[in-house]
Amino acid sequence: MKTLFKNIKGLLQVRQESETLIKGKAMQDLPIINNAWLLVEDDIIADFGEMQSIPQKLERDLTIDASGKMMLPSWVDSHTHLVYAGNREQEFVDRIKGITYEEIAKKGGGIVNSAKKLQETSEEQLYKESLVRLEEVIRLGTGAIEIKSGYGLTTEAELKMLRVIKRLKQAYPISIKATFLGAHALPPKFKNDREGYISHIIEDMLPKIAEEKLADYIDIFCEDGYFTIKDTERILDAGNNYGLQGKIHVNQFNAIGGIKTGVDYNCLSVDHLEVLTDEDLKALKTGTTIPVSLPSCSLFLSIPYTPARKIIDADLPLALATDYNPGSTPSGNMNLVLSLACIKMNMTPEEAINAATVNAAHAMGLEKTHGSITRGKKANLILTKKVPSYGFLPYAFGSNHIDKILLGGKTIL
Ligand code: NIG
Ligand code: FE
Repeated sequence: MKTLFKNIKGLLQVRQESETLIKGKAMQDLPIINNAWLLVEDDIIADFGEMQSIPQKLERDLTIDASGKMMLPSWVDSHTHLVYAGNREQEFVDRIKGITYEEIAKKGGGIVNSAKKLQETSEEQLYKESLVRLEEVIRLGTGAIEIKSGYGLTTEAELKMLRVIKRLKQAYPISIKATFLGAHALPPKFKNDREGYISHIIEDMLPKIAEEKLADYIDIFCEDGYFTIKDTERILDAGNNYGLQGKIHVNQFNAIGGIKTGVDYNCLSVDHLEVLTDEDLKALKTGTTIPVSLPSCSLFLSIPYTPARKIIDADLPLALATDYNPGSTPSGNMNLVLSLACIKMNMTPEEAINAATVNAAHAMGLEKTHGSITRGKKANLILTKKVPSYGFLPYAFGSNHIDKILLGGKTIL
């Protein structure tokens, strides 16, 4: 099946060679072809160019006129916890009344609250609740997504989550990567035995997960009151033994040295970074670990935003993701993330789009197939409604600018 899009007002993020992470000043460059055509063949971007030089006899089964519209690669959301049970609406109201996120967690709410619900939920029910959210983010333009476990906290429940992620992978055309986050919080049973829980993760959970090949990456919540640097090292070592690279939660509330650990252990990404010291910045400069910012988490929890300018101006790359989860970010809207990055983190539209496409694809190991308009890459694409320019997308926040979604070359919307 060949579909030709013609008269595209602006074809964004066009890269011949897209396998490099975009950092520093280069994040300002957003390669664009004005008045373009693009040919999708089966599930692949086959070819594209300027309308004035479109081949005279281009074979196609279908032609779509994209006058006035922008086309760009789908958003890549490299950090979510989209599989969960129930919600935490009550904690939202508690926070409105002045109780903090930390206080709620200390009282047995928070992650442990979600874990209790998930343990009581059947795999079938969990799958049903999760697919509603997955379908929603697909409609919002996300074409690749990472999903973490971490609301199970028992072997059985962690396996249940990861099996649900596997089922979603098989059932939907969106590209999915799974991350094992057993070390998300201490379950009540191990309240006074952190070491014991870490051993449980390493000796009981990991081997089973590896045997069923349920995870692509490993994660840990490295934070005061959750897991220490030493725990992080143990988990990353154990993950590495099973070939799982780290993608870790660090510096959400406190800088305890997790960024350096992440870089030293060659993690693919270090995520959150709402708090960032000069040492952290220095550590990032010594390796290839990608910093990932989650601005909708900052919005929802009223905590600082990742200092994006500091990161980009230090000639580093940055990726953006949603963190979709029931506690700190009940939203999987990458369009909102882009707007927040511009409004709250002083990123330009070009930087934000690079961070949510090419760099985000790197942050989940999909840079060869996703994140840019490149011949041979997967035809996961967004066609916008008629808009004046690409900067209008993050500028006119809260509106839906998407006209059509393509996943694997097929029109989903
Ligand atoms: O990335 N910080 C750790 N984990 C999630 C939130 C967990 C929750 O509150 O349920 C996050 O923000
Ligand atoms: Fe998270």
